[in-house]
Amino acid sequence: MQVCVIGTGYVGLVTGVCLSHIGHDVICVDNNEEKVKLMQSGQSPIYEPGLSELMQSSAASGRLQFTSDLAQGVAHGEILFIAVGTPPLPTGESDTRYVEAVARGIGANLNGDYKVIVNKSTVPIGSGDWVRMIVLEGVDEQQKSQKSLVTAGNVSSKAKEEQANFDVVSNPEFLREGSAVYDTFNPDRIVLGSNSPKALGMMKDLYQPLVNREAAQDKSLPPVPVVVTDLSSAEMIKYAANSFLATKISFINEVANICDRVGADVTQVAQGIGLDSRIGSKFLNAGIGWGGSCFPKDVAALIHTADDYGYEPELLKAAVNVNVRQRLIILEKLQHELKILKGKTIGLLGLTFKPDTDDMRDAPALQLIEQLNRLGAKVKAYDPIVSQSGLSHGLSGVIIEGNAEMLADGCDALVLVTDWQEFVKLNYQKMATLMTHPVIIDGRNCLDPKVLKEAGFHYLGVGR
Ligand code: UDX
Ligand code: UDX
Repeated sequence: MQVCVIGTGYVGLVTGVCLSHIGHDVICVDNNEEKVKLMQSGQSPIYEPGLSELMQSSAASGRLQFTSDLAQGVAHGEILFIAVGTPPLPTGESDTRYVEAVARGIGANLNGDYKVIVNKSTVPIGSGDWVRMIVLEGVDEQQKSQKSLVTAGNVSSKAKEEQANFDVVSNPEFLREGSAVYDTFNPDRIVLGSNSPKALGMMKDLYQPLVNREAAQDKSLPPVPVVVTDLSSAEMIKYAANSFLATKISFINEVANICDRVGADVTQVAQGIGLDSRIGSKFLNAGIGWGGSCFPKDVAALIHTADDYGYEPELLKAAVNVNVRQRLIILEKLQHELKILKGKTIGLLGLTFKPDTDDMRDAPALQLIEQLNRLGAKVKAYDPIVSQSGLSHGLSGVIIEGNAEMLADGCDALVLVTDWQEFVKLNYQKMATLMTHPVIIDGRNCLDPKVLKEAGFHYLGVGR
């Protein structure tokens, strides 16, 4: 099918590339000219395992193009994905101005052929109808500008509705950064929200190869479940899923903080409760807490929606409060070990909000750097991606080192902030000799305490 994806960020680019890989003819649109040029040259502007290889093969097949020309994209696609950013405003509300700009632009470029407009971006509950209204406004503005050329009579709003031949579908994404390509080809479910049987039919055709697991790791699994519901429920599924996962992590972090006081080991506790099939063992890793571009934004947006509609979301607010405090707990452990932090040198192992991504949005490391600078400590960091890329991602108040041993040199303590796989196999024996105080706080409980102690470290975990 002919597809247009607008917004080539972590979600839009992965969606476009994967849809072209399963056989669709995709045009990706982005208003960032540099990004478009980079993608036209076959390079990905973001780091996602497996993405650049897929980009090359799909572009070679001629089924993947990149442009900054929205009109070209709208004319090409029978299905138009809106996948632009919906960053949080200071109030917690989603900033939907980019979605609005794109929806209006789509309206202005509709040519009467039937289109399915898909909200892939995470948009506030009830946005499906709002997007429809904005698209119609775009149609209206286009007609007005054309009408100024031709003195046609007033077109009734009913006629406008008929002329604006489109339906809106909510199709939330559940992609984890660092495994976005894998998650696209191996989804747990596909969620479609719309009241238009025609639009739903086209979406099912679009996703049929994914439902049949044609690009899946395990092709023998039964077909992927497709949840078909109304627009608002589909939007709520996205927020509820992310809020539940964030709450689950805050729960195990709360248990970890109690374990720290009673001498229990939270990793054993997590294993013990996770074996209960009603709980499940995933997303029970205690540590410095959750960051990224989705959990913080989506939980804040759901809280904001609840407040808008007169409901006090106590549990969601508690999940956020536990998470904010978790970063300070790492700081408290440092102060407990080193007493005065002023003038001390602290080394951070990892900067990104999770491994296998280059995304620094709302990464716990950022708050740690800010707090340590405030207390007068000198901060250094080594991150496999950030250190390599040379770009310090706009970071300030931290010295980026090229490898773990250069990081350890002269440090009074290390904090493991991101559970990059390579941190498990570092030469901790040598690092300990380079440090003033061989102290390490394992902010992700991902190291083996025995190994670190044998290497000469004083090891502290979170809840163990
Ligand atoms: C975004 C939303 O942030 C997330 O909530 C949603 O679930 C999926 O889409 P992400 O892909 O990370 O996630 O967004 P981002 O990395 O900010 O990329 C957005 C892209 O849209 C950027 O490349 C930007 O240049 C582009 N864009 C933005 C447009 O093409 N047009 C615009 O008007 C605004
Ligand atoms: C999340 C959701 O998983 C995904 O379905 C949704 O589409 C977007 O948001 P993402 O934010 O990319 O994906 O990363 P995720 O793997 O969910 O981790 C989010 C944060 O939680 C990270 O900071 C991670 O370090 C933290 N985390 C995760 C924990 O602290 N403990 C865990 O057990 C799991």
